[in-house]
Amino acid sequence: MEITYRRSRPDRRAEADALVAFLSGHDWPFHGTPRVSADQAARWISDGHFDGPATRTFWMTADGEDVGLIRLMDLGDDETPLFDLRIATHHRGHGLGRQALTWLTRYLFDEFAEVTRIEGTTRQDNAAMRRTFLHCGYVKEAHYRQAWPTDGGPAHDAVGYAILRHDWRTGTVTPPRWDDERDLSGPTA
Ligand SMILES: CC(C)(COP(=O)(O)OP(=O)(O)OC[C@H]1O[C@@H](n2cnc3c(N)ncnc32)[C@H](O)[C@@H]1OP(=O)(O)O)[C@@H](O)C(=O)NCCC(=O)NCCS
Repeated sequence: MEITYRRSRPDRRAEADALVAFLSGHDWPFHGTPRVSADQAARWISDGHFDGPATRTFWMTADGEDVGLIRLMDLGDDETPLFDLRIATHHRGHGLGRQALTWLTRYLFDEFAEVTRIEGTTRQDNAAMRRTFLHCGYVKEAHYRQAWPTDGGPAHDAVGYAILRHDWRTGTVTPPRWDDERDLSGPTA
């Protein structure tokens, strides 16, 4: 399946309608809002959620169908970009997530020369997203216990991944130094 990427321009009526249809037409079980109403989606658009000075959104299109949405955030000076990735329900599990993350990683490093790292956070039980991170060279850097609230139920853990420009350029993976507490020194009792 050949994928093309095009920037979404939600200030145009047809684009806004397409965004509303996409967001409200699928379930997002690992997002804070698993079912997005058309009203909610329209509010996000008018609040500048998808386009603005530090935000860009791209459609992934295959055979004329919008199959995925990539939202890039915190773009600009001295920021570490973040992203949100949403694949249409019936297209999940066919490699589009991997293609999207590969594409957005290259886009961000090519487009923003000052960016040295890209970050993403997801729910701990989002196996598909976590495997997508690993496939694309991202490394787990953080585990936030009970940091992902749910409606009524117990909070989930959240996990943070990132990729370094250096690793991306050289095809390497630099692990975090998890054992650094060994180096701590302080007053002894
Ligand atoms: C998470 C998401 C982006 C992944 O994209 P995808 O197209 O479904 O995933 P891919 O087919 O590219 O597969 C990527 C990896 O996940 C694995 N995977 C796919 N679906 C899976 C599932 N349901 N359970 C466990 N692993 C799964 C694949 O085997 C692959 O792993 P591998 O590279 O080790 O073989 C997509 O499923 C999605 O949009 N989900 C809903 C929205 C969401 O959760 N977004 C993440 C917000 S941060």
